[in-house]
Amino acid sequence: MSIKTEYTDFLVIGGGVAGLRAAIELAKSGKVLVITKARETSTEYAQGGVAVALSDEDEVGIHYEDTIRAGDGLCNERAVKILVEEGPERILELISWGAEFDREGTKLAFTQEAAHTRRRILHAHGDATGREIEGVLLNKVRSISNISKYEFAFTIDLLINDGFCRGALLLKESNKEIVAIISKAVVLATGGAGQLYVRTTNPPVTTGDGMAIAYRAGAILEDMEFVQFHPTTLYAPRAPQFLLSEAMRGEGGILRNINGEKFMSNYHPSVELAPRDIVSRSIISEMVKTKARHVYLDLTHLSSQFIKKRFPRIYSTCLLYDIDITEDLIPVCPSAHYIMGGVKTDTDGRTNIKGLFAAGEVACTEVHGANRLASNSLLEGLVYGPRAGKAASEYGGRTRKSKISPPSYKIYKVRREIEIDKIRTSLRRLMWDRAGIIRCSKSLREAKVKVSKWETLLNHNFATRRELEIKNMVTVAGLITEAAVLREGSIGAHYRSDFPERGKNWKRHIRFNK
Ligand code: SIN
Repeated sequence: MSIKTEYTDFLVIGGGVAGLRAAIELAKSGKVLVITKARETSTEYAQGGVAVALSDEDEVGIHYEDTIRAGDGLCNERAVKILVEEGPERILELISWGAEFDREGTKLAFTQEAAHTRRRILHAHGDATGREIEGVLLNKVRSISNISKYEFAFTIDLLINDGFCRGALLLKESNKEIVAIISKAVVLATGGAGQLYVRTTNPPVTTGDGMAIAYRAGAILEDMEFVQFHPTTLYAPRAPQFLLSEAMRGEGGILRNINGEKFMSNYHPSVELAPRDIVSRSIISEMVKTKARHVYLDLTHLSSQFIKKRFPRIYSTCLLYDIDITEDLIPVCPSAHYIMGGVKTDTDGRTNIKGLFAAGEVACTEVHGANRLASNSLLEGLVYGPRAGKAASEYGGRTRKSKISPPSYKIYKVRREIEIDKIRTSLRRLMWDRAGIIRCSKSLREAKVKVSKWETLLNHNFATRRELEIKNMVTVAGLITEAAVLREGSIGAHYRSDFPERGKNWKRHIRFNK
């Protein structure tokens, strides 16, 4: 089929915090096109907040130590240093652009989350921090004439020519047109892959697209076995899988099993604020013991006025499902939340492919190690988005506009109906059951066999978002299960019931390159 070609200086794929922040930086050096496959992003769902060492009782060195400890020995120390040192400046910049974080009097208000030794989480409108940050960045982007945006444009693949990334092939959903965008550099900021799991805190857009297209293009993917599960999402009939922020435990919320018993002291001295992987596994263990599908989060001992002011979005959402969090125990269970692994980059977002950069959840700078410290991800986007943008613009400055011939894309003609929706549902169940919070060689190998079959079945040039997404999900599922098989040990968020210790050679990073 004939493919229309368009040109821009820089292409940013993804419109969350990392993508928008990269675009703002790139716009200083040329025309930027930001493409997104939908209007929603993971950023806008972030409730808890953004961790930053700005309070009187805090220091960047303490934030550094907490991040390293949470990462369980696998953080890149330089990447963490950059995060905590550049974080305060990026937050102050955001405030100067209009971000309104909650305050106590005139001072910024900080809350507590698991594994932080200080109250250092900034929040906005109680529990709508991501929405506030994204809103401010979008306003900034709208004020810059060098940035334009295509929404509902799905990236089919990256364009690689002579080993250089020269742009991307898009499916524009509005008119079903396939367009080649040619650019000097591409920044991937497509977010994570939570939709690979049947239980997830992530919105429907998180299908691992950036990881899959980068992998197909020859990028190195790293640390894919490290998937973080958030301990508390709402578990109620008819209710969506709504995140109940860790800040609720930070403000004093207590976990109880279905018999009403507190249990966290049986598992960890930090009780409700133990690291996320430990809280998630403790909840699963209580669910198994009590033969229940959930445990409870209890806030009823806190003042009702405080709860409504501090968690307005959570309060009103739960009320829609007949749960008054000021009076009722809230049924909760863990869900897939964040992937620490992704497209391997240096601390300037450079991948192993010239012209391809990545930032945010899609990338792996190793800043989170084997387990991300709560509320470090918005900060990651704010710090590493502009770093990738700067490196891409410097690279672009040394690169002439490509004159590559338009690529061809031969659309797969469906000969036998592939049951896309059925595969999607089965994949998400399989990943939850076999490659979820607790894994073992047997469960992972079962998952791998099924995923490989789907990979073969879906190895085609599709032309609808639904088909392209499931193809990407299957690719990423293959990488997660393979990495989880290879890591015969338990570390951070990766827990193998057949290898509960760290195992030999635990310091290594598992990498894949097609
Ligand atoms: C939360 O509010 O619990 C989520 C924060 C995070 O995952 O960083």
